[in-house]
Amino acid sequence: MPPRLKNTGTRLTPPDPICASAMVREGATGFRFEVDWHGTRAAAFVIRHLGRAHAYLNRCGHIPVELDWQPGEFFDSSRLYLVCATHGALYDPTSGACLGGRCEGRGLVVLPVEERDGHLFLIKEN
Ligand code: FES
Repeated sequence: MPPRLKNTGTRLTPPDPICASAMVREGATGFRFEVDWHGTRAAAFVIRHLGRAHAYLNRCGHIPVELDWQPGEFFDSSRLYLVCATHGALYDPTSGACLGGRCEGRGLVVLPVEERDGHLFLIKEN
């Protein structure tokens, strides 16, 4: 089924499909994708935590480097937190908030997603 149009208040914009829901399992490897971010392509990812999908720019709050320690590996060993591979900053998987380390209060950039009909979609904000 094609995605339904989302009413953003200013114009109707179809959400961008990211991947099938089954590709993003609880606490497991995340799915990497790209988004348009202020006129450039930027790395992003989606993970599942406590049953819900959450997407973020793949960019640490400390230094703008990608977080994953192997492609798609964003969770720490407890599978409860997202961790930056470079200096170990910890983030809340449900909000992207910085929980400790060198991010020093600078959380991840949240990308709104919705899950429908077995797929994950990026909600574009216009
Ligand atoms: S670059 Fe991520 S904690 Fe330093």
